[in-house]
Amino acid sequence: MRKVLPLALLAGLLASTSAFAAEDTARRPVKDVTFSFEGPFGTYDRAALQRGFQVYKEVCATCHGLDHVAFHALNEEGGPGFSEAQAKAIAAGYKIPAEPNDKGELFNDQGVRLTRPGILADAFPNPFPNEQAARAGNGGKLPPDLSMITKARMGGAKYVYSILTGFHEQKPADFEVPEGAYFNPYFEGWAIGMPNTALGANAVTYSDGTKATIEQEAHDVSTFLEWAGEPKMEQRKSMGLSVLIFLVVLSGILFAAYRKIWKDAH
Ligand code: HEC
Repeated sequence: MRKVLPLALLAGLLASTSAFAAEDTARRPVKDVTFSFEGPFGTYDRAALQRGFQVYKEVCATCHGLDHVAFHALNEEGGPGFSEAQAKAIAAGYKIPAEPNDKGELFNDQGVRLTRPGILADAFPNPFPNEQAARAGNGGKLPPDLSMITKARMGGAKYVYSILTGFHEQKPADFEVPEGAYFNPYFEGWAIGMPNTALGANAVTYSDGTKATIEQEAHDVSTFLEWAGEPKMEQRKSMGLSVLIFLVVLSGILFAAYRKIWKDAH
């Protein structure tokens, strides 16, 4: 007993020195926004997908890759609905690390990596040549690839939306944000390495005239990233519905057959 008391006091002292223990800074529940793709019959809003692509391309792609999305997906059913020509033009606008040239070289005389314009079969190129470069460009923090982010995080698209719109919430006065990080209560630990200026109002100019508020941009890019994580969602849901209708009809036929067969058996 004589030993336990000082230990308990010490533990109490240690706990009180860090005002915010891990459970205090657990990420906040995601914001309650609604998306067109929710529910068993929800589909992607095409216009939102196209606007979200624009936000990804013009804002997020400076830091985040989209390694698992190929340009041909932009033209496929259930996607943003770009024409093949548009998807080709988008692909050609990117520089892809080239295959070795005739002389087997990957770099030019200045040591710069040779590139070629993208084609439909290519995936979005990563903004950084490797992880070290990505970290070096972001204060040691790694901007994760966004292809699967809505699948990888609880809350999915709502999580992405909450992060993007969560930078300007009131910080508890006694919470210290570490050097090089930014306050964001929707991120685990409340301090994120993504700059709070990464997305601002009017970061893009929408060609369809939609007003580019930060909420609108965040909602659009979250829709786009949901699609990136599950490009075949619409096909999956419509297949599910067909199977359901088939089973209902089959049950009806089987029940009618059962009645007919057993009609005289009493
Ligand atoms: C200037 C670079 C930069 C830009 C621009 C940027 N981000 Fe980030 N982002 C980061 C970094 C760095 C991290 C990692 C933060 C960390 O680990 O603390 C991050 C983290 C994230 C996370 C949290 C990931 C996780 O692990 O849970 C999401 C979601 C995200 N970014 C989405 C976006 C979206 C969407 C855009 C475009 C609107 C965007 N970011 C623009 C640098 C950037």
